[in-house]
Amino acid sequence: MSPRILVIAGSLRAGSHNRRLAAEATRLLAQRTTDVSVLDLADHALPIFDADMEAADGLPAAAIQLAERIEAQDGLLLVSPEYNASVSPLLKNAIDWASRVRKVKGRPVQPFKDLVVGLAAASPGRLGGLRGLQALRAVCQSLGAEVLTAQVTLADAGNAFDEDDHLTDDHARLSLERLVEALHEHSQALGRHTP
Ligand SMILES: Cc1cc2nc3c(=O)[nH]c(=O)nc-3n(C[C@H](O)[C@H](O)[C@H](O)COP(=O)(O)O)c2cc1C
Repeated sequence: MSPRILVIAGSLRAGSHNRRLAAEATRLLAQRTTDVSVLDLADHALPIFDADMEAADGLPAAAIQLAERIEAQDGLLLVSPEYNASVSPLLKNAIDWASRVRKVKGRPVQPFKDLVVGLAAASPGRLGGLRGLQALRAVCQSLGAEVLTAQVTLADAGNAFDEDDHLTDDHARLSLERLVEALHEHSQALGRHTP
C-alpha cells in the first residue's frame, strides 16, 4: 500500500521560493506514491498561540483540523524559509497549535509521534536556510517525530527555478530526489497507517 504523505510549505508569500520547492517535491513524490497531498497553511489561519485564549475558548477548529490531517499521515515534508536563523513563525505557530490537540472526535491523538518527517528549505542566501532546518528538526524531534537525516537546503533560490518552476541545477534536483526517496521509503517502512 502507498504511504500517505503530506507536504506543507512554511510561507504564504506569492512567488515564495519555498512554495515552489514544495511543489517540485510534490511532483517527485507523486511519481512514487498515489497518496500525496498538499496542505496550504493559508487554509488554516491561526492566531498567535496564547494559552489564555486556549483556556477561555478551547482549541480553534483550524488547529484541530490541522492536527487531524497530520495525524492521518505516514510521512510529512516540511519546506520552510529561515527567519533570523530559525523556524518560520507561520510554521512554528501552526506546529505549536497542532501539538496542543490531544483528542479528535473523542479519540486520543499525538499528531507528530512516530511521524516520518523530511525537511527542506530555500533561501536567497548562501546557506539555503540550513540554520532554520536545525531549529525545525529540534522542534519536530521534541514532539516524537522520526526526522530523516537527509535534508535539502537550496541556496540562491531566486535563480534556482526555470519559468515552469522546475529546478534547473542537477545537484539540487538530485538532492531533492534523494530526500523524497528517503521520505517515501521510511514512510512505507515505519508508516503509522501503512499495514
Ligand atoms: C524577518 C526576516 C528574517 C530573515 N532571516 C533570514 C535568515 O536568517 N536566513 C536566510 O537565509 N534568509 C532570511 N531571510 C530571507 C528569507 O529567506 C527570504 O525572504 C525568503 O524568500 C523567504 O521565503 P519564501 O521565498 O519562501 O517566502 C529573512 C527574511 C525576513 C523577512
